[in-house]
Amino acid sequence: MNLKDADSKILAQYVDLRNEYHRELSTQKVGFEETVRWLDRANVIAEVIVQNNELLGVGIIYLDRNNELTYFVKYPHRGIGTTVLRKMEGLASANRIEKLWAKVNSENTASIRCFIKNEWVQSKSENGKVYFAKVLKSHLPSDSEPATKGRAKQ
Ligand SMILES: CC(C)(COP(=O)(O)OP(=O)(O)OC[C@H]1O[C@@H](n2cnc3c(N)ncnc32)[C@H](O)[C@@H]1OP(=O)(O)O)[C@@H](O)C(=O)NCCC(=O)NCCS
Repeated sequence: MNLKDADSKILAQYVDLRNEYHRELSTQKVGFEETVRWLDRANVIAEVIVQNNELLGVGIIYLDRNNELTYFVKYPHRGIGTTVLRKMEGLASANRIEKLWAKVNSENTASIRCFIKNEWVQSKSENGKVYFAKVLKSHLPSDSEPATKGRAKQ
């Protein structure tokens, strides 16, 4: 579900979970009203996984930051992060985004492991941050295309 379409109960859970992880996300804590205003004008793809009115996972792509991705889940280490990553990759492809990238604190083992097992590629590591990127499948060169185009038979 798009976070912009979520009701106030889900949005409140989003604010709480985001604030709980403010260190991992390298952000300041935010308030509910502030978040409502932000969502109204934010240039983002913001997706939430909701089950029985409980927010289980969040993925956000910041379109103004060259498609930076961030994600977080209610119950870590149960595969929800992988579900969120796959969903965000699909949404990115549908929006003709060629590549996603993310910045992770170097001690964030769960996130690093989650990116690696989902075939994200580490690009660099500096100042305590590890950078990952993923070129989306629809933008990889196709296997079926010939490497060099020969002359057509006459
Ligand atoms: C990062 C996060 C979204 C990953 O979601 P998740 O649901 O835990 O992800 P998954 O369960 O799909 O994968 C996590 C992997 O890390 C592994 N892992 C977790 N903690 C670990 C640790 N301390 N050491 C080694 N591996 C660890 C898990 O075993 C799993 O790997 P496996 O499937 O091979 O066993 C989640 O942990 C989270 O919300 N963290 C807080 C917010 C955050 O850090 N967001 C990322 C900002 S870039």
